[in-house]
Amino acid sequence: MIQVRVKPGVEDRIRGFFPWVYKPEIIGYSKKPEKGDLVVVRDFGGKFLGYGYINPSANISIRILSFNKEEPVNEELIRKRVFQAYEYRKRLHLDSNAFRLVHSEGDLLPGLVVDVYDEYLVVEFTTYGMNRLRGWVLSALIDLLKPKGIYEKTSEYVSAVEGFKVEGGVIYGHVPQEVLIWEHDLKFIVNIPEGQKTGFFLDQRRARRLIREFVKPGAECLDVFCHTGGFALSLKRAGAKRVMAVDISSLALEVGKRNAELNGLSDIEWVEANAFDYLRELHRQGKKFDLVVLDPPSFAKNKAAVPNALRGYKELILRGLHLTKPGGYLAVYSCSFHITREHLLETTLSAATDARRQVRIVGESFQDLDHPWILQMPNTLYLKGIYMEVL
Ligand SMILES: C[S@@+](CC[C@H](N)C(=O)[O-])C[C@H]1O[C@@H](n2cnc3c(N)ncnc32)[C@H](O)[C@@H]1O
Repeated sequence: MIQVRVKPGVEDRIRGFFPWVYKPEIIGYSKKPEKGDLVVVRDFGGKFLGYGYINPSANISIRILSFNKEEPVNEELIRKRVFQAYEYRKRLHLDSNAFRLVHSEGDLLPGLVVDVYDEYLVVEFTTYGMNRLRGWVLSALIDLLKPKGIYEKTSEYVSAVEGFKVEGGVIYGHVPQEVLIWEHDLKFIVNIPEGQKTGFFLDQRRARRLIREFVKPGAECLDVFCHTGGFALSLKRAGAKRVMAVDISSLALEVGKRNAELNGLSDIEWVEANAFDYLRELHRQGKKFDLVVLDPPSFAKNKAAVPNALRGYKELILRGLHLTKPGGYLAVYSCSFHITREHLLETTLSAATDARRQVRIVGESFQDLDHPWILQMPNTLYLKGIYMEVL
């Protein structure tokens, strides 16, 4: 196997279980590597640090899969990791037949995402190196879960950063256009081929449960960036009288409407609009709600995008504050790793100052536990939510 030596000082971070080696940190190879080759990472003095795969042209050049000298990367290790990921999920009592089975670095399988939707799996290979191991991954998944079908989703990141193209589509068995899942006491239709991400925002499962605590009987609620109605339906189930649900995607709204019918829930108004324009319009009309949810897509895909993203959040939160009745609740989420909890709190403070509203923080949430957050790998914590009472 190709040996890679890293610059002095880098070893401390790797020994602290941080699984990435950046391109400028590499000082030499035992042999020139090809994209996706398996490598042994060694410190400056030649001591073992980990086993991983390499993409010499990418900024994150090496991703480590094993910090244990006795456990090189082979089919057995991949099977073990997939098995461990599954065992961990079984212990979580997620109250759903849909969950994230493999969360990339969060499961020591960098570059791999696997979501389970009832008897079907959706996989994403997001690095060149993990894509080279796809045969082992797929056979482990098939043996362990015996799915009826596997669908491969493509990621823009892959072609842009890692330099390979994925066709996507059904790669094993058959996968229907729509799969029925349940979460808590609600059913949802998931359109795997055409839906966003892998089909459903599984990471907000906990938040969709928590939000129910803030619904007063007969409340009027607003779910902005509603997708297929995850929050809107939860709010109705918790006793809201009426919910207005806003999204820019007609497909998501179409599925949302059917989800409401499926659960026997009425009085949800589905609005196809750009949230920024629509919130401005609601504010102009003087509309007020007992509870407002803001769950936008990621505004900051990289560090450079943070200042613009914060401006976007500020505008949204400001509008959300204006639209919340005194004593009502506002929940705001960010699903970008680059937007930290502190960013979100500071932006909320700045918006509250402009809106002249006092805010009491009444809760916080993170991505649900099937999207594990590894303390030594800050990038694995990406989704944060803040719940506030607007006084
Ligand atoms: C993170 S998802 C929301 C997930 C949803 N809350 C759930 O629980 O399933 C973000 C949603 O924002 C929508 N979206 C993106 N840009 C938008 C915009 N400018 N205005 C309205 N909706 C937008 C997307 O279509 C997507 O459904």
